[in-house]
Amino acid sequence: MSAPDNDLAQVAAVVVLAAGGGTRMKSKTSKLLHEVAGKPMLSYAVSAAAALDPEHLVVVVGHQREQVVEHLERLSEQLTTAVQDQQLGTGHAVACGLAGLEGVEGDIVVTYADVPLLAGDTLRQLVAVHRGRHNAVTVMTARVADPTGYGRIVRENDAVIGIVEDRDATEEQRSITEINSGIYVFDAATLREGLASLTTDNDQGEMYLTDIVKFCHDRSQKVGAHLVEDVWQTEGVNDRIQLARMNQEMQRRIRDAWMLKGVTMVDPASTFIDVDVDLAQDVVLHPGVILQGATTIGEGAIIGPSTTLMDVEVGANAEVIRTHGSFAVIGEGATVGPFAYLRPGTILGANGKIGTFVETKNAQIADGAKVPHLAYVGDAIIDEQANIGAGTIFANYDGVHKSKTHVGKAAFVGSNSVLVAPVDVGAGALVAAGSTITDDVPAGTLGVARGRQRNVEGWVAKARPESKQAAAAAESDGNVHPAVIESREKKA
Ligand code: UD1
Ligand code: CA
Repeated sequence: MSAPDNDLAQVAAVVVLAAGGGTRMKSKTSKLLHEVAGKPMLSYAVSAAAALDPEHLVVVVGHQREQVVEHLERLSEQLTTAVQDQQLGTGHAVACGLAGLEGVEGDIVVTYADVPLLAGDTLRQLVAVHRGRHNAVTVMTARVADPTGYGRIVRENDAVIGIVEDRDATEEQRSITEINSGIYVFDAATLREGLASLTTDNDQGEMYLTDIVKFCHDRSQKVGAHLVEDVWQTEGVNDRIQLARMNQEMQRRIRDAWMLKGVTMVDPASTFIDVDVDLAQDVVLHPGVILQGATTIGEGAIIGPSTTLMDVEVGANAEVIRTHGSFAVIGEGATVGPFAYLRPGTILGANGKIGTFVETKNAQIADGAKVPHLAYVGDAIIDEQANIGAGTIFANYDGVHKSKTHVGKAAFVGSNSVLVAPVDVGAGALVAAGSTITDDVPAGTLGVARGRQRNVEGWVAKARPESKQAAAAAESDGNVHPAVIESREKKA
């Protein structure tokens, strides 16, 4: 086999077939928008097509086309769409795609939109083979254990003479294991002539694109096949079982690639990584980690167990344990979790901490600042080295408006405080535990906002004389515990 030429001149056009019904998915969502490793199947098809740098990239749409077109518009401005109103077969679909390409000459590649593992490089190899052999048509083929349902490649003295569909095949042809992937390169003029020659004389009464192969052979034009070893690259998705299998295979490939680049996965089988995620060297992923969207993890960071991050940027050497986060930034050396919930707009600085049972939203928590336990931090700006005590609530919503709270540098907010926004706690200020802060606490000030303690002496003996509390009190020497005395002395 000739070596693939990776400096290919661009192809004239790629026609991506995306008009089919996808009825076996049983879904209100177009089959092509179902995701593989976090991206719609359609996106993969467009990326692979774009790798050929085509002058024209046409996607043939039909079924559920509003959904498909809407997604296509977000993918690329270069591509155009052609409509196939009725699905009269693959030949008819390509004819619809060519309607807007009058006068285009050269190589025309035809691919499907539901073959997510097909790589751009594989298409480039196909084109290289097609050009190298001066073929009129080159079909991408694969050898499969169970060819049921596929078109079979019919050869005579090794040369391809035609493709026969499963339902039109003879018993003998059915035993052929080389199948048609449905991906081809055609010479433009040959393709137009071939399409014009198609009939609906087959079991389905459809216009079969595959018949062009025999058409070329009969006219003594060169027909070639390019056998792809990696069968997954030719596999389509028709139902949700195949979708799940495709996802598994894609995950396997993504995980293997990252492990080879220096990422440790304690349990690859329970680790899920979207295709656009980026991981640095020496990242450790514990079991149950799901990394989605455009999540990036810096060098040496430790993630998991049981952590889901979507569009989160994690700095080097950070630790993120049992956490659910989205659209957030975690700084270098910071620690998060266990049991943290980082909502959009959370930005944690270097060496900062978001600890156990903490929920954050729209919160800028500067370098070295800490929110270690049981807190809700919403619409907050927390400066460097500030410490937010256990149970603190940033009351950002009064039922109508959302407002901001600022906690200054090295400020200390005592446990179980409520900071009622909008409110400002200045640099180096302290908030006494249990305070409900509604007014600003200026820099260097102690803010106390709680009722004073009152002890009612002898209350238990009088009100509950028979209780175990009364008995315990009677037994006690009444002294303060030495550990507390010690702490008090230390504090003084
Ligand atoms: C087709 C091939 C078969 C090949 C198989 C590989 C033909 C006649 N047969 O069969 O040799 O082994 O693909 O998967 O080409 N589509 C349209 N409009 C249509 C019909 C189809 O856009 O009118 C699109 C579908 O959305 C799909 C692709 O073309 O993406 C293939 O169509 P499908 O009906 O699945 O073809 P098969 O019968 O599987
Ligand atoms: Ca199919």
